Amino acid sequence: MRKFYIEGGHKLTGTVKVSGAKNAALPIISASLLGSGPSLLEDIPDLKDVRNLAEIIRRMGARVDYQDNTMEIDPRSLDQYATDPELAGKIRASYYMLGVMLARQGQARTSLPGGCSIGNRPIDLHLKGFKALGAEVNINGNIVELTAPELTGNKIYLDYPSVGATINIMLAATGAKGQTVIENAAREPEIVDLANYLTVMGAKIKGVGTDVIKITGQEALHGEEHRIIPDRIEAGTYIIAGALMGQDVYVKNVLVEHIKPLLAKLGEMGVELEEDIAGVRVAAPEKLDSVDVKTLPYPGFPTDLQAQMMVLLTQADTASVVTETVWEDRFKHVEELETMGASINVDDNSALVKPARLTGAEVEATDLRAGAALILAGLKANGVTVVENIGHVERGYEDIEEKLTALGAEMEKVEGTIESQVTTA
Ligand code: UD1
Repeated sequence: MRKFYIEGGHKLTGTVKVSGAKNAALPIISASLLGSGPSLLEDIPDLKDVRNLAEIIRRMGARVDYQDNTMEIDPRSLDQYATDPELAGKIRASYYMLGVMLARQGQARTSLPGGCSIGNRPIDLHLKGFKALGAEVNINGNIVELTAPELTGNKIYLDYPSVGATINIMLAATGAKGQTVIENAAREPEIVDLANYLTVMGAKIKGVGTDVIKITGQEALHGEEHRIIPDRIEAGTYIIAGALMGQDVYVKNVLVEHIKPLLAKLGEMGVELEEDIAGVRVAAPEKLDSVDVKTLPYPGFPTDLQAQMMVLLTQADTASVVTETVWEDRFKHVEELETMGASINVDDNSALVKPARLTGAEVEATDLRAGAALILAGLKANGVTVVENIGHVERGYEDIEEKLTALGAEMEKVEGTIESQVTTA
C-alpha cells in the first residue's frame, strides 16, 4: 500500500499552480458524449477518477485520447448504453452516464456509485428528476436502469440543492422536448462550467449560477473545445498550507471569486493574503485568531475544505467551532488528527477544535479531503507523519507530492511497511 511520508516543520516558499477542477472535469467529460462529433477538453487533471471515467466511456465504445492534460473524446463510435459495473462502482461520477445516456439514446444503465465514504450518499433527487422527465426507473441490487422512449421537459423542485442531481437533470434535460425548470438548483462553479460547455455545444440553458435553471432541449449538440476551470478546492488546500507554513507562497491559476468564503475566514483569522487576477499570495501569521466555520452549499463555506480548515484551526489561539451541514458523516479525520495530538470534541454535526501542538504519527486517509487534511497536519507537525491509504488523495489531487515538495515540504511517496519507510527516508 502506498503512503506519504512527511517530515513536519519545513517552511513553504514559492509558486504552486492549481490544476483543472476534478468536479467540473467529470461532468464535462461525460457531457462530451452528447456531441455529434469530437470534443477537445483542456486542463483535465490527471487523476484516478478521471482515468476511470475515461475508461468507462472507452468501454462504451467512444474513442478517448488523453495526454498532457488534454482529452479528445469522439463519441461517434459509442454503441453501449451500460457502464462497466466494476469500473462504475469505483467512481461516484459514473452516475453522470445516467443523465447523458438518457438524453442521448433514452436508455441508461450503471451500478450505484462509489467515491468517498462521507455519509449516506443517496441519489433519490437524481431519480426524482429523471422520472419527472418521463423516465422509467428500475433498481435491481446496485444496478440502476433507466428507459424513456421520449423525454419531456418538466418543473423539478430539488429538496436540497444537490450538485450531482442538478448536473444529472441538466444533462438529461438537454435531450428532452420543451423546457425543464430546476428549482432550488445548486449554484456551484462546476455547474456553471458544465453549462458553459453545453452552451457552446448548442444547448439552451438559462439561470445557471442561480437557484432556478431553465433548459430547453435541442435536437442535437455538437462537439466543442473547452478549458476546465481551476480547482477551487485544490486552490483552497494550498492556500491553507500557506496559512499554516508559508513564508511566501503564491497559489496561481485561481478564480478568486470561487474561494471568497475561505478567503473571508482566513482574513478573520489574521492570515496575510494578497489577491490578484491570477492567484493568491499567502503567508502564515505569527498568531492565528479562532473563527467558527459552518459548511453550506455554494456560495457558503465548502464542505470539501472543512477537514483542511480544521487543521488550521488547531493552530488558532482559542477554540473554534466547525459545523458540517452538507454531509452527515464527515468528521472521520477527527480521530486521525487526535492521534497527532489535536484536541477536538465532536457533538453530532459540530466539532469544538481547541488549540493543540501537532506531533507526527501514523494516520490513515479515510477519504479524499480527510487525506489532504492529514497531509497539511503532517507539514505542521513536529516529527514524522505517515499518511496511509493515499489512494483517496490521488483520486483528487494532481501531483500533490511534487507540488508541495517544490514549495519546500519534505514529503515522499513510499511503498512497503511503515518501519522501512521511516528508516530509509
Ligand atoms: C459533490 C462533490 C463533492 C462535494 C459535494 C457537496 C463531485 C463529484 N463531488 O458531490 O466533492 O462534497 O458536491 O459540495 O462533484 N443528497 C440527497 N439526495 C440526492 C443527492 C444528494 O439527499 O439525490 C444529499 C447528500 O446526501 C448530501 C447533500 O445532498 O447530504 C449534498 O450532496 P450533493 O450536492 O449531491 O453532492 P455530490 O454531487 O454527491
